[in-house]
Amino acid sequence: MTVHFIGAGPGAADLITLRGRDLIAACPVCLYAGSLVPQALLQYCPPGARIVNTAPLSLDEIMAEISAAHAAGQDVARLHSGDLSVWSAMGEQLRRLRALGIPYDVTPGVPSFAAAAAALGAELTLPGVAQSVILTRTSGRASAMPEGETLENFARTGAVLAIHLSIHVLEDVVQTLTPHYGADCPVAVVWRASWPDQRIIRATLATLETAVGAELERTALILVGPSIGAEEFDESRLYAGDYDRRYRPVGTDPRFPETA
Ligand SMILES: C[S@@+](CC[C@H](N)C(=O)[O-])C[C@H]1O[C@@H](n2cnc3c(N)ncnc32)[C@H](O)[C@@H]1O
Repeated sequence: MTVHFIGAGPGAADLITLRGRDLIAACPVCLYAGSLVPQALLQYCPPGARIVNTAPLSLDEIMAEISAAHAAGQDVARLHSGDLSVWSAMGEQLRRLRALGIPYDVTPGVPSFAAAAAALGAELTLPGVAQSVILTRTSGRASAMPEGETLENFARTGAVLAIHLSIHVLEDVVQTLTPHYGADCPVAVVWRASWPDQRIIRATLATLETAVGAELERTALILVGPSIGAEEFDESRLYAGDYDRRYRPVGTDPRFPETA
């Protein structure tokens, strides 16, 4: 018996990996975080599967479901939105499973920042403009930010920021970032990336609050940085015609000569 933690992706039901889909189909028990995991994924559960929405359950109640499946020798598909490596509450479940000696594995998923960038049709790391993306959030009721992980500190780096769980404190975000990025810095907010009701607003730090207005939907990502929507950037050297590389030797004395 194994508990399969599966990244369910950002929303669209076809943005799950084949491995994740096949695991759902093979498990007689499916526990899913109903607040963000698309219901459409549950169609892959086998007939008669026990399907439980864990959104209203406590960690103890979730572990009781897993323990019951373990006692019955039934594999569990455990679905969380996006990818499991960020803000999934997987860590605490894995720790309990280790203590109980219950086997598990993890299948990655498409994270929401990638879905948001795809919705924008954007590469976030453009040569000469931005080469780092910081995935972060602001503190919430359930999770305080560790000292040092402040938006201000991240803003000092000038990297692209993918700010999660923070649309409700937009005013604070704008005030904190403007001194570092400048009022003209491009910003995009993507609500429910990849869902049918996905919405995008492009603005600058100066115009963002007016552009967003009284939008109530909270499942949103704020992307801030000079690469958002940029057209002025260098081309990658990797594909330059004169760039000698292992996969495309160039010139009379290539660095990586082809071997016969
Ligand atoms: C609890 S976190 C889950 C993050 C998830 N594990 C991931 O890989 O992106 C929820 C936050 O992620 C962001 N998010 C999740 N799905 C999203 C989507 N489809 N579009 C935009 N933002 C999303 C929002 O900031 C939301 O408040």
